[in-house]
Amino acid sequence: MSNKRNVTKAIFPVAGLGTRFLPATKSIPKEIMTLVDRPLIQYAIDEARAAGIKEFIFVTSRGKGALEDYFDHSPVLEQELARKGKTALLEDLENTNMDSGAIAYVRQYKALGLGHAVWCARRLLDPTEPFAVLLPDDVIAAEKPCLQQMVEAYSETGGSMVAALEVPQEKASSYGVLDINGNVNDTTVSVKGMVEKPESGTEPSNLAVIGRYILSPNVMQNLHALKKGAGGEIQLTDAIADEIAADRGVFGYKFKGKRFDCGSKAGFLQATIAFGLSRPDLRDELSAYLKTLPA
Ligand code: G1P
Repeated sequence: MSNKRNVTKAIFPVAGLGTRFLPATKSIPKEIMTLVDRPLIQYAIDEARAAGIKEFIFVTSRGKGALEDYFDHSPVLEQELARKGKTALLEDLENTNMDSGAIAYVRQYKALGLGHAVWCARRLLDPTEPFAVLLPDDVIAAEKPCLQQMVEAYSETGGSMVAALEVPQEKASSYGVLDINGNVNDTTVSVKGMVEKPESGTEPSNLAVIGRYILSPNVMQNLHALKKGAGGEIQLTDAIADEIAADRGVFGYKFKGKRFDCGSKAGFLQATIAFGLSRPDLRDELSAYLKTLPA
C-alpha cells in the first residue's frame, strides 16, 4: 500500500469559539481550560509526542493568544522552582516546553468547518507525507496513547485511518459515521463509506469517528475542492470519503481506551473526575468525597 511514510506532523484545529463553555470562553480559549491541572491542549500534545510527532500545527483564530503563550518557556518561574528545590513541579513545567520552531500557528479567518480548518494548514505540510489530525475536545485515557496505537496499526495498512468508537445508535447522528466493508483484524476495519452527521435513522452503522486521524496527503488535495457538506460546512469526513471513491484505502481503528467528549460540559466533568481519580495525589480525597454523594 502507498503512503506508508512516517507520520511526523500533526494538525490541531483550535479555532472554535467554544460557545458551549460561555461565559468562561469570553476570555480564555477552550483549549486552555484545565482538566485537573493541565490544559486540554496539553493532553493532545502529549499524545501526539508519544506517537512520534515532531511538528505541531495549530489552526487558530482571534482570541487564542493565551494558547500561544502557554507554550512559551518561563525562565523566571523555572529558576524560582529550582531555587526552592521544587523538582517535581519543575519537571512538570519542563514537560510543557516545546523545541523552538516545533509549533506553527496558522489562522483560520472564517469558521467554514473542520475540513476548512485542516485545509488552512496545507502550506505547512509536505505534499508527499501523511499527517495526523487531533481534535483536542476528544480526550482519550489509554494505557498506550490512542494516536500511538493508530501509528502502529497504520504501519500495516497505509492509506488513511480514523479512530472509531461504537456509540449508542441514537447518538450516532452527532458524529461522522463509518460504513464498514469488513474486518482487517480485531481492531481495524476497512471502510466503504463515511457520512458526516447522518440524519437520525439513516446511519450506516453505530461506529463513530473520534477526533484522531492519520491522513494520506491525497485528503488535503481533496480538500482543495472546498465542497460544502453537512450543516453547510466544509467537512473533513467528506474529503476522507473521497479517498474511498478514488479506490484508496480508508480504515477505522477501534482504539483501546476511554474517550471523553470534552466539547460538552457533562463530558468535561466526567473527564475531570476520571483523571482526578487516576492521580495518586488526589485519588483518596476525591473518592472519599464521591462516596458521600447521594446515589
Ligand atoms: C467532528 C467531526 C466528526 C467526528 C467528531 C468527533 O465533529 O466532524 O466527524 O465524529 O468531531 O468528536 P464535531 O464534534 O466538531 O461536530
